[in-house]
Amino acid sequence: MLSNKITDYPLIHGLMRVQNLSAEDLEKLINYELKEGIEVLDTADIYGRGKSEELIGAILKKNPSLRGKIYIQTKVGIVKGDEPRYDFSYEYIKKGVEASLERLNCQYVDMLILHRPDALMEPEEVGRAINELYDEGKIRHFGVSNMNPYQMELIASAVKLPIEVNQLQFGLMHTGLIDAGLKVNNHMEEAISYDLGTLDYCRLHHITPQAWSPFIVGFFEDSFVDNPKYLELNKELEILALKNGVSKHAVAVAWILRHPAHFQVVYGSMNEQHIADILVARNVKLSKEEWYRLYRAAGHVII
Ligand SMILES: NC(=O)c1ccc[n+]([C@@H]2O[C@H](COP(=O)([O-])OP(=O)(O)OC[C@H]3O[C@@H](n4cnc5c(N)ncnc54)[C@H](OP(=O)(O)O)[C@@H]3O)[C@@H](O)[C@H]2O)c1
Repeated sequence: MLSNKITDYPLIHGLMRVQNLSAEDLEKLINYELKEGIEVLDTADIYGRGKSEELIGAILKKNPSLRGKIYIQTKVGIVKGDEPRYDFSYEYIKKGVEASLERLNCQYVDMLILHRPDALMEPEEVGRAINELYDEGKIRHFGVSNMNPYQMELIASAVKLPIEVNQLQFGLMHTGLIDAGLKVNNHMEEAISYDLGTLDYCRLHHITPQAWSPFIVGFFEDSFVDNPKYLELNKELEILALKNGVSKHAVAVAWILRHPAHFQVVYGSMNEQHIADILVARNVKLSKEEWYRLYRAAGHVII
């Protein structure tokens, strides 16, 4: 029986990297993850240009009883192709979600996420689309991604469902959500807030942050784990990995889970052994000293 409480799921499998994946491969991974207590799948209309949702749809067609065992979240709002843009219009959201449901072979998604803010968004249009999708039973929960507090307020003013999650990039080498809060009122680069206090806002409004690309540096650059460019960080990860009998990846995930905002971590590996290495993060509880040691090893100065 799936829980309705999003914080019951600390780890989420993200299905963005689907280029070389078959439905059989994904089915094996999902069955393995279900045995390990991982029930949430994160996808989007644009992942693999629809292939990510189609793979889930093919698996559900073969095993309809799986639908009640997995929590599916998908996203809408980014337009790829010759004219890339964002689109939160009523028509785009409604038709986009209906097309996702077709590909997913589902009557509903558990969570719909607005993928990236549209500068031209009209909250009333967003509200009309989301409220109708909810009334029609096509979405059960609602969230956003890559949004700051004012954008969330704007959307919340017109949508009757609460914003339950905000998916944001966060990891040891992408710490913008916390840097400025540690350097308030100082004239240094890390004191500049690039997100207007998004993490504090999420905590105050009981919005669960979901950390995407937890091992990635910058915007889709490289993984920092075992990367010779980040020797100091890897040295600390190794010490804590040995201490806890887990992988460095697990320690990097445990670092995110240790934050009291109750992050969910969205990992993207499609390799069963790599996933096994990540899942044990749930058993690792870092001390405050260890948490700050890793933050410093990632290149941050504590003033
Ligand atoms: N909302 C948004 O705007 C947004 C944007 C981007 C991503 N996302 C979500 O976030 C998810 C994760 O993103 P991501 O795939 O970029 O992030 P990720 O989980 O940080 O990592 C990806 C890389 O780390 C490697 N890796 C992971 N675990 C490993 C292990 N134990 N050992 C060795 N290598 C390991 C993976 O290689 P292998 O594949 O070889 O294991 C992969 O190349 C996506 O699937 C998507 O759902 C959301």
